[in-house]
Amino acid sequence: MASVKVYFLTLSLIAFAIASGSAAISSRIKNGTPADTIERFPWHVSIHAPGKPINCSGTIINKRWVLTAQSCVKDNHLYELSFSRLYQDSFNGSFSLTVDRTAIVDYPTQYAYDNLAMIKLPISLEVSKVVALAKFTAVNLVDNSLMVMAGFGNQTNELTFGMFRLLSTKECKAAYGTRYNEYLQLCTESWDYTNQVPCLNNEGGGLFVNWPTNPTLVGIFVNGDSNCNGKLPAIYTKLLTYLDWINDVIRYQ
Ligand SMILES: *[C@@H]1O[C@H](CO)[C@@H](O)[C@H](O)[C@H]1NC(C)=O
Ligand SMILES: *[C@@H]1O[C@H](CO)[C@@H](O)[C@H](O)[C@H]1NC(C)=O
Ligand SMILES: *[C@@H]1O[C@H](CO)[C@@H](O)[C@H](O)[C@H]1NC(C)=O
Repeated sequence: MASVKVYFLTLSLIAFAIASGSAAISSRIKNGTPADTIERFPWHVSIHAPGKPINCSGTIINKRWVLTAQSCVKDNHLYELSFSRLYQDSFNGSFSLTVDRTAIVDYPTQYAYDNLAMIKLPISLEVSKVVALAKFTAVNLVDNSLMVMAGFGNQTNELTFGMFRLLSTKECKAAYGTRYNEYLQLCTESWDYTNQVPCLNNEGGGLFVNWPTNPTLVGIFVNGDSNCNGKLPAIYTKLLTYLDWINDVIRYQ
């Protein structure tokens, strides 16, 4: 528990953080709705290599831990996590922490299905209106429920969110066949009429149910339609299956 690791800590305060100002704005949550305020998604974390455009997301689940997709943190380089970040092209109002690979706890098997990892923060976060912990308790999921995920979009520089419909196992299997595993995964399509689709570079993003009254994290975006045309459902790691592991990591690591 007391093993000392070397972390690179950067508190990027406004003026210093323009390094990634040239971030290309590509399609992420297609047709997403601007969040307006980070207070709507205070647990949202943007993940990228230092000085590079945001290419993944994560969710604060504990003052010391961020949950993301394993595919977002598999390389042996530095990862910069920005908190309270409302804009892609600036760190205005946000701060960031940079960690190396030793801060990452992979799910032990690291197979395609078990696509989740936890990042241990070098400091304990101070909770506020703009930095908060996501609730991730077990919930009974009902087909066709409204689900929400935040991420960046191409129409706007601002953090956006998409609204999605939870599909039944039958619908997910109709699209992916035996590659879809209902015990380990969830799948969604755009909420009726919104045409919102999570695209590449939103991997690791948290999928929430019971938004906005009692937002509860239930999935991690891992894969979708690579053309981002909404023809195939988006796939998420199903947190319910992994809750014991997540709680053990928080307790023992
Ligand atoms: C994000 O970008 C970094 C380098 O800029 C790369 O190492 C990493 O694999 C990328 N992640 C994803 C999921 O594309
Ligand atoms: C930062 O954002 C605030 C409002 O959110 C704005 O008034 C200010 O001009 C911004 N600063 C920069 C450097 O963009
Ligand atoms: C955003 O991406 C979609 C799909 O790739 C594209 O149709 C649309 O023109 C893009 N919008 C902007 C403003 O770039």
